[in-house]
Amino acid sequence: MASQAEKPKVYKGLEGIYVTETRLSYIDGLHSKLYYVGYPIEALAKNSTYEEVAFLLYFLRLPRKDELDLFKALMAEARELPEDVLNVVKKMASLKAHPMDIVRTAVSYLAAYDPEVGVNTPESNLRKSLRILSKAPSIIAAMYRFSRNLDYIPPRKDLSHVENFLYMLHGKRPTEFETKVMDVIFILHAEHGMNASAFASLVTISTLSDIYSAVVSGIATLKGPLHGGAAEAAYHQFKEIGSPDKVEEWVQKALASKRRVMGMGHRVYKSYDPRAKFMRELDGEIAKIYGGEPKLLYEIAIKLEEVALKEFAEKGRMDIQPNIDYYTPIAYTALGIPPEYFTTIFTASRIVGWTAKAMEYLKDPRLIRPLDLYVGELDKEYVPIDKRG
Ligand code: ACO
Repeated sequence: MASQAEKPKVYKGLEGIYVTETRLSYIDGLHSKLYYVGYPIEALAKNSTYEEVAFLLYFLRLPRKDELDLFKALMAEARELPEDVLNVVKKMASLKAHPMDIVRTAVSYLAAYDPEVGVNTPESNLRKSLRILSKAPSIIAAMYRFSRNLDYIPPRKDLSHVENFLYMLHGKRPTEFETKVMDVIFILHAEHGMNASAFASLVTISTLSDIYSAVVSGIATLKGPLHGGAAEAAYHQFKEIGSPDKVEEWVQKALASKRRVMGMGHRVYKSYDPRAKFMRELDGEIAKIYGGEPKLLYEIAIKLEEVALKEFAEKGRMDIQPNIDYYTPIAYTALGIPPEYFTTIFTASRIVGWTAKAMEYLKDPRLIRPLDLYVGELDKEYVPIDKRG
């Protein structure tokens, strides 16, 4: 055992540790900036589509029109789910399993139907990634329909990725505005540095496992309320508050009892998360157009931001600000997505980040194998079971 003098430093939560180099995304956490392959996130969210962003992350450049058309067609072609996978989704929905558990299981099961299972060349990894990416919304829509005793709606090839997703959920073609809102949500969640789920999937691929396993690791890790599950928690927090005039009282009580404001704070952003800023503006438009619950949630969120940030600033904690999960519940609600589905949509989008990262890592892989510092006793005497006190 190391003596006290030579005790190695333990980096709890691996904070501040770089594990690899990447060209996929860059977060400037001090200046509210996020880039995918060098493009500011705002430009992509405003002008792009999810398919274009997926191409960008897989090929590290924006596509030409003919390339994007082909890419979109390949994705549309891969949307259908095997009957057996649909049956598993149906069974789990009937057991009232959490939607994230259903997505995790369905993606894992899908591997058995992949025509290239066991082949791990770069080309087959890209094709597998595209298949998982294309099928994920079908899994979510299927469980949504089954859990409401509604019929499964097969995918359409003539619709864009998010348009088809909304169509499969609700059985009608979304409006242009709804499609844009969902595209923005998908674009903003696509990739985000070495976050917990990205790291989990990277650890898996670093053992030269396979793309499906890497995605399953990512899904399992994203589920937690400190990561992807925060949007669902933020929604329930807004509902618990109930109305903007209850915010002050709620904040005082919450902070006094050491509760966290869900959807605020971030390990890397010490300024406003640029994705939250973009969503906040879009939510303003949504509140005006939709009224009702989205408007109420928006008003509570705005008031809570104002009050909580003032409290944090008084404690010298200007670094705790809204993250993306704070403002997505409003948009999700407007699109008719129930809270327990929020993280599944994050998942459907982030599959591109996990798989792009896995493929990038496989170009120069190294087994991820950190150390843990043993702090227990050594050379203990083994006592037979009948002699133990
Ligand atoms: N509300 C109140 N206090 C907070 C919050 C918050 N949302 N976030 C951090 N703090 C405080 C903590 O209480 C702690 O205070 P202390 O030092 O007095 O004990 C301090 O800030 C540091 O908190 P840590 O948890 O150590 O900081 P970390 O870097 O691990 O925080 C995290 C990141 C986990 C996201 C945290 O901010 C949090 O729990 N936020 C709420 C959950 C959330 O929104 N998660 C989504 C993150 S974004 C994403 O994954 C997509």
